[in-house]
Parts: sequence; structure tokens; C-alpha cells
Amino acid sequence: MSSVTVRAPAKVNLQLSVGARRPDGYHDLVNVFQAVSVYDEVTASASDELTVEVVAAPGAPGRGADLHGVPLDGTNLAVRAARALAEHAGVPAAAHLSIRKAIPVAAGMAGGSADAAAALLACDALWGTQLPQAELMGLAATLGADVPFALLGHTAVGFGRGDQLSPVLGRGTFNWVFALAEGGLSTPAGYAECDRLRAAAAGEPAPRSEVHPALLVALRAGDAAALGPVLSNDLQAAALSLRPELAAVLAAGRTHGALGALISGSGPTCAFLVASAPAGLDLAMALTAMGMCRDVIRAAGPVGGARIQRGPGETS
Ligand code: C5P
Repeated sequence: MSSVTVRAPAKVNLQLSVGARRPDGYHDLVNVFQAVSVYDEVTASASDELTVEVVAAPGAPGRGADLHGVPLDGTNLAVRAARALAEHAGVPAAAHLSIRKAIPVAAGMAGGSADAAAALLACDALWGTQLPQAELMGLAATLGADVPFALLGHTAVGFGRGDQLSPVLGRGTFNWVFALAEGGLSTPAGYAECDRLRAAAAGEPAPRSEVHPALLVALRAGDAAALGPVLSNDLQAAALSLRPELAAVLAAGRTHGALGALISGSGPTCAFLVASAPAGLDLAMALTAMGMCRDVIRAAGPVGGARIQRGPGETS
């Protein structure tokens, strides 16, 4: 049977500066993303109709406990991606999508966006529609603000809704530890809480509208010690307001050697930048021993965006 397998990475935000809420409900962002080595895989197989199944990747944190949060109907982002591609290219929306999830669900690591990006590439190859990259990026942006970045990968800055991307130059590899929390947080709820906190706080400084220069310098130098202190996330206060217990997790990470600690995206995952892979192992063991999180993932970034692993006719 003909099938195509694509894997797409999770992300962490190095700088998430949130501007004013726009009339369309989105916020203008300066969003510096880094793709990290945690991957969902989507296999698109020939089928008469459009169907989806979701399974846990072997060894995935929580062994699939959070997969019940992934919709299996037409609202699934991978299904929406396949449908959008079929409509755009004028072909029948016919494929079975099998999603193998390693990226935690509703965790602020863009797992849904990764699945959408992977489904776009997989169906594009399965159906032979072969869209140019710019058209795929355009379709991706209609599916969600983070989906174009899941196609692009590496390190990039997104302006506007976060979908107007420019690559950011850098060198070296950064090591990350992610502490997963019980339950998820919804992205709209995070932005709404951010708006509420800002409305309540008089005289708040205007949000940053450019990439922090020190962040660019640290990335260009591949200097984790310099990057750690300039990591920032304007959604962090909202995530901590909704889930106050996360403050202790961030503090524990700092105490146990993290160079930087912040909420990943809209949370509730806590992301820790560490000096090396062994330092990451030490921190992961300390967080686990303290029982401060549901599970821990170690990863490195930057990594590339969504890529075909196995094409039609190939076996693993
Ligand atoms: O684009 P996506 O569907 O991923 O966005 C989810 C939600 O996150 C939006 O409906 C909006 O509430 C919020 N959001 C935002 N501003 C952005 C990106 C997302 O307010 N730039």
C-alpha cells in the first residue's frame, strides 16, 4: 500500500513578545522559535476517505495518557491540513492519517502545529500535488500561526501573528530540558489571561517590538550561558496566574543548574536551557526525584522542520 511518513519537530520560544490584541482576535508578536528534537510522525496512506488515528510514540512521556485530548474528527489539525491541501490543489481529500505522538498535547510545544505541517507534506507527496514551498507555507498559515514554523524549523523569528517568518542565524546546539505538567493549557486561554492581567495592571511598559539584540548575539555565538538570561515569554505571567504551582518548578530548575528557565509558549510545560547534555541529564533526574512534574523530556535544538522520512513504496 502506498504511504508517506513525515516527521515534524516541537518548538520552544526563545522570545515571545506579545503586542496588542488586534481586531481579528490575534495578537501582534515578536516570536523567536527554536525547533527541538522531539518529533511527531504522520503517516498518510492511500484510502477512499479522510480518516485519522493517534497513537503514542514508543517511550513517549506519559505513554499516551494525554492523547485523549486530541480530537479524532474534522477539527483535528492534521485532518484540517489534509482537507485544506485537497481543496487548494483540487484533488479528493482521501488519505488515512496515522499520527505517532511524542510531543506532549496542549503543552505549549506546538504539537498540533507539527502534526498539521507533517500532514501537509505527507499528503502533498502521497497525492503528487507537489506544491511549491511558498504555497505550502501559505496554506500552513491558514491552519494556525505556528504551523509555518513547523515546516521551516531551525531558529526563526515570526512577526505579525507569528507566521511572517525570517530565519535567525546561529551556530552550535543548545540543550533543553522540558518539565511536563499534569493537564494542558489552551492557547486562547493563555492569551486571554495575558490581556486580563494587562488590563488590570496600570502603567505597564509597552511590549517589545523587536528581537532582543542580546538574544541575537547569544544565538550567533552559540553561547548558552549568554542566551539563558535573555530568554523571555510575555505569556509566562498568564501561565503562572492560571497554574501558580509552575513557579516552584521554574525555581527548582534554576536551583539545579539551568542557565535559563521559562514557560514554553502558552504552557504549562517549563523549559530549561542547560549548558550540556550531561547537565540536562542531571537536571532531569533532579526534577524527577523531586516529583515536581509529570515527566521530563530532554532535547536539543535547533533542528530542521518537517521532513519526509519514507516516501511512497519505501518500507522502514
Ligand atoms: O493560530 P492558532 O490557532 O494556533 O492560535 C490559537 C489561538 O491563540 C488564537 O485563536 C488566539 O486566541 C491566540 N493567538 C493570539 N495571537 C497570536 C497567535 C495566537 O492571540 N499571534
